[in-house]
Amino acid sequence: MKLKVVVCFALVLALVDLPVLARVSAPKTPQHSQSNDRRVDQLLSQMTIEEKVGQLNQLFYFTQFMKPEMIEPGIREGKIGSLLFVTDPAIINRFQKVAVENSRLKIPLLFGFDVIHGFRTVFPVPLAMASSWDPALVEQAQGIAAKEARAVGVRWTFAPMVDIARDPRWGRIVEGAGEDPFLGARIAAAHVRGFQGGDPSSPGRLLACMKHFAGYGAGTGGRDYDSAYIADAELYNVYLPPFKAAVDAGVGSVMSAYMNLNDVPATGNAFLLRDVLRKEWGFKGFVVSDADSVGNLVTHGFAEDKADAAYRALTAGVDMEMSLPGNQIANAYATSLTKLVQEGRVSKGQLDEAVRRVLEAKFKLRLFENPYVDESQVATIHNNPEHRRLARVAAQRSMVLLRNEGNVLPLVKDDPKVSSLAVIGPLADSKRDIRGSWSFVDDVKSAVTVLEGIRAKVGSAVKVEYAPGVDIRRAYPSIFDLITGPRPAAWSEAQKQAEFEKALTLARSSDVVIMALGEHEEMSGEAASQSTIDLPGRQLELLKAIAALGKPVVLVLINGRPLEISWAASNIPAILEAWHPGSEGGNAVTDVLYGDATPGGKLPVTWPRSTAQIPIYYAHNITQEPETKKNFTSRYWDIPSSPLYPFGHGLSYTTFSFSNLRVSKPEVRVGESTEVLVDVENTGRRAGEEVAQVYIHQRYGSASRPVRELKGFERVALAPGAKRTVRFTLSKAELTYWSGAAKKWVQEPAVFDLWVGTDSRAPLTTTLRVVGR
Ligand code: NOJ
Repeated sequence: MKLKVVVCFALVLALVDLPVLARVSAPKTPQHSQSNDRRVDQLLSQMTIEEKVGQLNQLFYFTQFMKPEMIEPGIREGKIGSLLFVTDPAIINRFQKVAVENSRLKIPLLFGFDVIHGFRTVFPVPLAMASSWDPALVEQAQGIAAKEARAVGVRWTFAPMVDIARDPRWGRIVEGAGEDPFLGARIAAAHVRGFQGGDPSSPGRLLACMKHFAGYGAGTGGRDYDSAYIADAELYNVYLPPFKAAVDAGVGSVMSAYMNLNDVPATGNAFLLRDVLRKEWGFKGFVVSDADSVGNLVTHGFAEDKADAAYRALTAGVDMEMSLPGNQIANAYATSLTKLVQEGRVSKGQLDEAVRRVLEAKFKLRLFENPYVDESQVATIHNNPEHRRLARVAAQRSMVLLRNEGNVLPLVKDDPKVSSLAVIGPLADSKRDIRGSWSFVDDVKSAVTVLEGIRAKVGSAVKVEYAPGVDIRRAYPSIFDLITGPRPAAWSEAQKQAEFEKALTLARSSDVVIMALGEHEEMSGEAASQSTIDLPGRQLELLKAIAALGKPVVLVLINGRPLEISWAASNIPAILEAWHPGSEGGNAVTDVLYGDATPGGKLPVTWPRSTAQIPIYYAHNITQEPETKKNFTSRYWDIPSSPLYPFGHGLSYTTFSFSNLRVSKPEVRVGESTEVLVDVENTGRRAGEEVAQVYIHQRYGSASRPVRELKGFERVALAPGAKRTVRFTLSKAELTYWSGAAKKWVQEPAVFDLWVGTDSRAPLTTTLRVVGR
């Protein structure tokens, strides 16, 4: 929801009290059942134009601010096909009853909600989940989220967000899987499998919606909603693969993005919605707009008026329109489509195509057979301790150990030298922030903070005391304040000074200091772009002041994007990136700090040294002055060109070695596969997990290829001293790219460099030759 959307919403309240591969692989979208086709035909033949338009109309309903009576007449009259944000099962049943018992054609409503990283149980934010490099974990977590949401009657989630993000200033980087198309594609497919299972109608499953189609993460300057200019080669090679993977995994719906792509708003973009999505990929589900993105076609200077916007969106391929919050049946489709059809500007066939897709989804979800939710099951499903257990495991597996100089971590539980611990920082004891954005329906009181996790772990033998130290806040309010409620009042100047001093005093009198710094949950996410990636407020100043005391300091980051931590990276020995780790976050952080869990997460993004390096990503092209040269200074003469931490970076409490890299067939023909094998050994004294990563570089071809591209990974668990051979297949798919010169997907005869190792700088290398047929 955009700011102005919420502003409009507030006004309304005042008045009423998202390769060749594409062409080669057959889409796995479930086949249409013939009987559903017949049922859709039958229904369509009975519907008036108004009733058809009603099926394309999706409205927000906020239990907190609205009254059922406000929208029941619209449901009864068949003017509403779907509602979002209703999460109260009684209200869901109440509305559904009106639809299936009192409307003329008894078509059930489809209830949607942003189930992004959990529902009642909050899992780590999506960027964190991607840091696990563990698609099976992602699938499992979303399976639980689906169960919990389905328990209240939600049948559709507006997730996964599969936008590639290469600019950490963009607030929504937290909602995706980071910068890489290969990792992004694997994670996207896992999200879809988790939500939908084999069949989104089966118990405990949801219909998934990949978003935001497409290019939203490339907004200029990292500014949310800003225009994206993406050349075809970059679009096909970088931004589209996760979407294609979601389609191949059978995703049932798509959300069109807000922004302009190459001057054509995504919501009116027939190239994206018809040529790519339907013709190239064979997508059979339906497309929903983002909230008010149809109406926004006027704002974009693309459509003349609302009616023109409705015409352009529908004909471009947007089936359902998500309204402006609070805008009762006044959006573009609802107000204009009937007339457009009557005037013949939109043909009956065009209207029917959109309505057909929406009805097909409702039939596939078996909404006609099972419109209601069993309210008596909610508590049992929501209170399943297994969900919390998995949330804790997911958080442990998502954390990335960025630095551990002198093996400061893990801390020792019964260390005789430690009788007092200081837990310091504005994120150390915040239940709200441990969860991350899009946490609207969990029980915030049940979230476990870092302070609580530490207290539970160390027991009463160690004195654990807390001080926030600094107060952090956004300069401008969040669009979600209306839902989540505002923050407590800002500290006065006197209070700021006193709290800063209090934190220093506490640190001075403690044996070890654990600092939890980062961002509030609303500092990343939608409409939460930041001009810099600096640690908000006086957090760096506090960190420096505490480090100056000479106590052992461990830094835990609770945040939704890479932040500027260059000073810490050379002055604080241990840094753990926890992201927003969810309901069980504090327990998981403590498990990792005390070695009850060994960190194994890896960065799904390149970590810049400072804002000045943005955009920075590992898969860039080799340039005039290759980076392999010593004294590499041609990019910037004032700062290094290398990132602080490379993509794929993440340490463990044990050590691993990679050896014996070999290729089963070092020379293959175009179209043939080969296997890459490497031995991974745990060379340390603890059990641990390493993510083996394979990178390739095509040395020459019809277009230049990135210096390295991830093309395989596997998270491997190894006991101390254990060694395993890990195999990866490099097939046509991995060796194909979209050539900006040939303007098509190509696999070319060439020599490829291969690397396998612990991160994107892995030195172990060999070559593969691909020869013509
Ligand atoms: C706007 C956001 O861009 C989208 O991601 C979300 O699903 C909708 N609002 C509904 O909340």
